[in-house]
Amino acid sequence: MGSAELAEHAGYLADTVKLGAYQTALASALSNDRRTTVLDLGSGSGILGLLAGRAGARWVYAVDSGSIIGPAADVAASTALGCGFRHIRGLSTEIELPERVGVAVCDQIGGFVYDAGVLEYFADTRRRHLIDDGVLIPASFRLYLTAVTCDHIRDQIELWDSHPGGIDFSVFRDLAVNSEHKVQADQVHVLSRGLEIANITSDHVDPIQGAGTLTVESAGRFDGLLGWFDADLGGGATLTNDPVHPDRMRRWCNLYPIARGVDVEAGDEISVEMDVRPLLPAASWRVRFTALGAEVTERHSTLLGEFLAPDDLARSAGAPVQQARLGKILAKALGLADGTRSVGEIIGEIANGPDRLEMSVSEEGTLRRLLARLTETQHS
Ligand SMILES: C[S@@+](CC[C@H](N)C(=O)[O-])C[C@H]1O[C@@H](n2cnc3c(N)ncnc32)[C@H](O)[C@@H]1O
Repeated sequence: MGSAELAEHAGYLADTVKLGAYQTALASALSNDRRTTVLDLGSGSGILGLLAGRAGARWVYAVDSGSIIGPAADVAASTALGCGFRHIRGLSTEIELPERVGVAVCDQIGGFVYDAGVLEYFADTRRRHLIDDGVLIPASFRLYLTAVTCDHIRDQIELWDSHPGGIDFSVFRDLAVNSEHKVQADQVHVLSRGLEIANITSDHVDPIQGAGTLTVESAGRFDGLLGWFDADLGGGATLTNDPVHPDRMRRWCNLYPIARGVDVEAGDEISVEMDVRPLLPAASWRVRFTALGAEVTERHSTLLGEFLAPDDLARSAGAPVQQARLGKILAKALGLADGTRSVGEIIGEIANGPDRLEMSVSEEGTLRRLLARLTETQHS
């Protein structure tokens, strides 16, 4: 755990708007006697599980894939709440819980919801970790798009056209336009009202598709669509990252750019279509507007914005998967990981056993990480 991660979690704790809404939602969910156990999914510092303990939970399972689980367990142990805690290190989608829980709470919400994984994690939670009438917090999301000016991202996109060092890097421009960019509310100037494009439950992993028309209310340069959300946490609690909301939570928004900034006037119309695939994950956007008297249609997708080398393309085109040397090492290691050997013994047997597979430092690192994941998925 480094200083960047500490700063990130301090930021979550400083977000009083967010904490207030989760506190209200947890108190409401836990007021039902059938719901006394809680999964704090992506627990970080442990704050949401601790709020659940204070709101009357009998038992909290705090799950986080990172090493922050250690200090978080120390905090829970020294906070007298009359609630049991078990801290588990691992991905929620890979761990098992000793029982199904009545409430699952999670803040792994991206700027446009899907992009931090909450939908996928909650779909898995409902299937494997939640009782039949269990409650997910948040329960649902409304997704919005609005037209914005964004100098920050426009400058990043234009940089690729500026011949840095006298070299033509314009190939990268297309990748930048076909990318989803995280931006803060103070990095955009809003040109239109938000258009609701979807209202989904928080375990929705099917395609999310929506369309409509944005009417420009204030003149400016249209750089792209800004994606943001309203979350319904239950018990009357809501949260939003709406860039112009005075009580917004501290969460980035997603900018979906158009190729070049276009000046627009109040009353101009921009028609938009959005298609989000939470499990890929990918977002595609289509924008139609009039510029200099001509109708312009643009289509962009994060699927076109990925850095694809020729071998990536061959793989995605269905080329047979070859077992390279690393594959042989991993296959051998998985066979040896039968519960009797330590990581050092497994590595020793691979290097000195009959096959004598010589490992580079980075291959040994990959192997050690895999073995650590296999043996240390669950900590209590
Ligand atoms: C956005 S932070 C929120 C932390 C805390 N819940 C809060 O409100 O301050 C998300 C945390 O979830 C963890 N995480 C993300 N996805 C996870 C998953 N599927 N399973 C377990 N931990 C996850 C990350 O390591 C990170 O610590």
